[in-house]
Amino acid sequence: MSSEQLSSVEEIDLAAARRIAAEHRAKGSSLVTVLQDVQTEYGYLSREVLEVVAEQMQVPLSQAYGLATFYTSFSLQPRGRYHISVCMGTACHVRGAANVLGKLERDLGIKAGQTTADLKHSLESVNCLGACAAGPIVVINGVQHGKVDSRKVNEILRELD
Ligand code: FES
Repeated sequence: MSSEQLSSVEEIDLAAARRIAAEHRAKGSSLVTVLQDVQTEYGYLSREVLEVVAEQMQVPLSQAYGLATFYTSFSLQPRGRYHISVCMGTACHVRGAANVLGKLERDLGIKAGQTTADLKHSLESVNCLGACAAGPIVVINGVQHGKVDSRKVNEILRELD
């Protein structure tokens, strides 16, 4: 890809962030809401995108960064097409969440907090998701899976192929 092509891709990307932020600004939405929608669009919050959001929402870049790093639902790094969250809260932990996370790490060849080189999977450990009775809980792109064990990890990964 030439540098000209790269810059036009960048323009398209930033245009989407500009549009989303402008729409929310007109509605008086909160900065968190804007960041959520922008992350849905891009999969993560790059520095360039945060700069556009801060400019459009007329807030300091540090404020946008502050929110993006405070909430664990935001990511400053590219995520995989399938973003996998494993609950490591106490209830899930005593039901074997560490084994589930370990198996996912082995099967995907990445550690929690990392993304596969092909950007297909990213993996993270999270705190209690509020569904303790059904633990261990694994959430993939917002879809919750309960009572996950090694066998169920195999099934889940097969479904993602
Ligand atoms: S500890 Fe996992 S959902 Fe509560």
